[in-house]
Amino acid sequence: MQSTPNLDQFIPEPLSKIAYQGLQESKKIFSFVHKSVSDRLTHTVVPEQGNKTQPLTPEILQKLQEKLKELEEKDWQDAQQGVYPHRLLFDNSWSDFFRYYPEVWLDLFNIWQRIKNKEFQSFDKTIDQVGYPNYYLQNFHYQTNGYLSDMSANLYDLQVEILFNGAADAMRRRILNPLKQGLSAFFDMPPQQIRVLDIACGTGRTLRMIRGALPKASLFGTDLSPAYLRKANQLLSEISGELPQLIQANAEQLPYLDNYFHGLSSVFMFHELPGAARQNVINEAFRVLQPGGVLVICDSMQAIDSPDFQTMMNNFPAIFHEPYYKHYITDNLEERLTTAGFTKIKTENHFVSKYWTAYKPIE
Ligand SMILES: C[S@@+](CC[C@H](N)C(=O)[O-])C[C@H]1O[C@@H](n2cnc3c(N)ncnc32)[C@H](O)[C@@H]1O
Repeated sequence: MQSTPNLDQFIPEPLSKIAYQGLQESKKIFSFVHKSVSDRLTHTVVPEQGNKTQPLTPEILQKLQEKLKELEEKDWQDAQQGVYPHRLLFDNSWSDFFRYYPEVWLDLFNIWQRIKNKEFQSFDKTIDQVGYPNYYLQNFHYQTNGYLSDMSANLYDLQVEILFNGAADAMRRRILNPLKQGLSAFFDMPPQQIRVLDIACGTGRTLRMIRGALPKASLFGTDLSPAYLRKANQLLSEISGELPQLIQANAEQLPYLDNYFHGLSSVFMFHELPGAARQNVINEAFRVLQPGGVLVICDSMQAIDSPDFQTMMNNFPAIFHEPYYKHYITDNLEERLTTAGFTKIKTENHFVSKYWTAYKPIE
C-alpha cells in the first residue's frame, strides 16, 4: 500500500513546485505558531526556563530564513534531477498528525513537571530499562519515557517536524545524493543485491526516503528502541517495495558480518551520544561496510561551521534536555572517521544540519 500518491505522474511541474513551496510555507507558519504558544506557556509555568536562553537577533533570524530557502531549493532540484521522486517531497503522515497532535499538547504537563523537578532520567515503572547503556536512559527533549514508549514513538516525527519548522525531512533527504553517488561504485551489481543500513533508524523516516531513492535495494535498519522500531515497521509497511529488515541493536555493536553493507546512513543520532560512543559507532560502521562502500552521516551543525548560529547552538541544550550536545558541537568527527580508517571524507552544511560522507578504502 502506498500512503502518498505518485504526484510525479499527475501534476504538471510548475504546479508541483508551487504545491511544494506552499506546503513548506504552511509547515513553517504552523511550527512558528505552535512554538510561540508552547514557549509562552512553558515560560509562564516554569519561568526559570526562559532565563536560560539568549534571544536571536533579527539578523540571525533572517539568515536562518535564507538557509531554509536554500535547503528547500536544493531539495526541489534533487527531485527534478531524479535523485528521488517528487512524491517524497509530499510524504507526510496526515493520519498521525490528526491523531497525535493533541497528545503533543497534553504531554506538555508532564514535561513541565520534569523541568521543575529537574528529572532527566525518569521512566515509568512499566518501562524495562535493562540492557540499555546508561547514556541512553535519558528524557532527551524532556520526552516522557525517553525513547522507550509507544507514545514517545507516536509523537516523535511530529515533534521533530515542528522543531525544524517543517524542514526535518528536507534535511534527511540531503543524505540521498551522496549515498547514491557512493553506491554508484557498485553499478555492475543487480540493484537488489545492494545492501544499505540506516543506523539508529528511529521511526523509519530516513528509510522511507532511501526506499524512494533506491526502490530495489535491500534496506536494513537498527535502533535501540523497540517502540521506535515497532513504529518504523508500521510506517514502512505502508509504502511500496520490500519491507526493510529492522533489528534492535546498539549501534556500538552492530549485529552484522564484517564487510556486509554497500552503504550506511545515520541521521540525528551522533549529538545524542557521548564522545566515546560516537567513536565506537564509527568503528562499527567501518567494520560492517564493504571496501569501497560509503557512509553518510547527518546531524546538527557544529560550532566551527557557523559562528553566527552559536547562540542558537547554546540555546538548544538549554531548552531541551540534550546532555551530549555541547560536547558534540566541538567534536571532530573527521578525525574520528580517519581514526576508524575512513578516507575521502567530505563535509557539507544545509540549514541547521551537517553531513559527513566517508568511504572505506579498497585494500
Ligand atoms: C534523534 S533520534 C533520530 C532518529 C532517526 N534517525 C531520525 O532521523 O529521526 C535518535 C535515535 O537514535 C537512537 N539511538 C540512540 N543511541 C543509540 C545507540 N547507541 N544505538 C542505537 N540507536 C540509538 C534512538 O533510539 C533514536 O531512535
